[in-house]
Amino acid sequence: MVIAARNCLASVASVVLILLLSSTCQAQLSSTFYAKTCPNALSTIRTNIRTAIARERRMAASLIRLHFHDCFVQGCDASVLLDDSATVTSEKSVIQNANSARGFDVIEQAKSAVENICPGVVSCADILAVAAKEASEYVGGPTWTVKLGRRDSTNGSPSLANRDLPRFTDSLDSLISLFGTKGLSARDMVALSGSHTIGQAQCVTFRDRIYSNGSAIDAGFASTRRRNCPATFPNGNGNLAPLDLVTPNSFDNNYFKNLLQKKGLLESDQVLFSGGSTDSIVSEYSKNPSLFKSDFATAMIKMGDIEPLTGSSGIIRKVCSRVN
Ligand code: HEM
Repeated sequence: MVIAARNCLASVASVVLILLLSSTCQAQLSSTFYAKTCPNALSTIRTNIRTAIARERRMAASLIRLHFHDCFVQGCDASVLLDDSATVTSEKSVIQNANSARGFDVIEQAKSAVENICPGVVSCADILAVAAKEASEYVGGPTWTVKLGRRDSTNGSPSLANRDLPRFTDSLDSLISLFGTKGLSARDMVALSGSHTIGQAQCVTFRDRIYSNGSAIDAGFASTRRRNCPATFPNGNGNLAPLDLVTPNSFDNNYFKNLLQKKGLLESDQVLFSGGSTDSIVSEYSKNPSLFKSDFATAMIKMGDIEPLTGSSGIIRKVCSRVN
């Protein structure tokens, strides 16, 4: 009896010890993570990303979105970048990414430049986070200090991608609750959606909205968009329209002004201003561009903190599209 109790106490003590050790071993992200191991990492990534955006301005939007689609699926671990292989199931073919997520080559080129100077040190997940910040800065959006030290996953998760990446048909309640599961508030969600101030969407994502169904839409705006987006599926499915009709190449607060005028392109844009709980946040951002930009930066830092792999978890991939 006494021996059993003693054994039991001993195992409880070791469980507590293991828990304590694992929590203290879990490294925190830090902006100086590569200061000693790869001091030129950030400038190398910056040069590569700026070159790519100078070549094609839309790339800024695509890179911000790629970081988002990474972080929402099993954390910011570069899982979105993996291709299918014998051991890996890719997230690239889920409906929210297929024929839509872009920028993979740009990240791969930045990675290869960084591998040339410091092999095996800098993760693809960190390159995505830095790329998103560089992209925002380049097109007139806010800048922020990126926390670093994420490591890369060894697999993708199409089922989690399917479950956790939002859809343009989602209701306001679903969006608030989905972002909530990632530790992001409704305010963060609205600020982050403000990145639809740049970039493009395909006709298939806004057809239903411009041909009637859903939240109210400005009639002139709907008819302009119909010109390049035929009513019948799948005609013109891939035709592009700017998410922000006024200044699609600049990171500003016009996206929110559009919503006030019922000129949001996606249904999931317009639900943010359609008589619900986020109307007041949209109004605030439409009047106060600097508030929007500072909330956006704060929310991007929070998003970049979602469940990173740190310490000895995960790996540093040599090539972002496959495991070593
Ligand atoms: C709130 C839920 C969201 C939904 C339902 C949504 C949905 C979409 C859709 C359907 C597109 C167009 C894709 C295509 O046609 O190929 C798009 C584009 C885009 N999204 Fe979102 N999005 C959401 C939130 C976000 C967030 C949080 C970010 C970034 C932090 C973001 C950044 C972007 C950017 C920058 C583009 C343009 C990409 C490009 O031009 O390549 N979105 N989004």
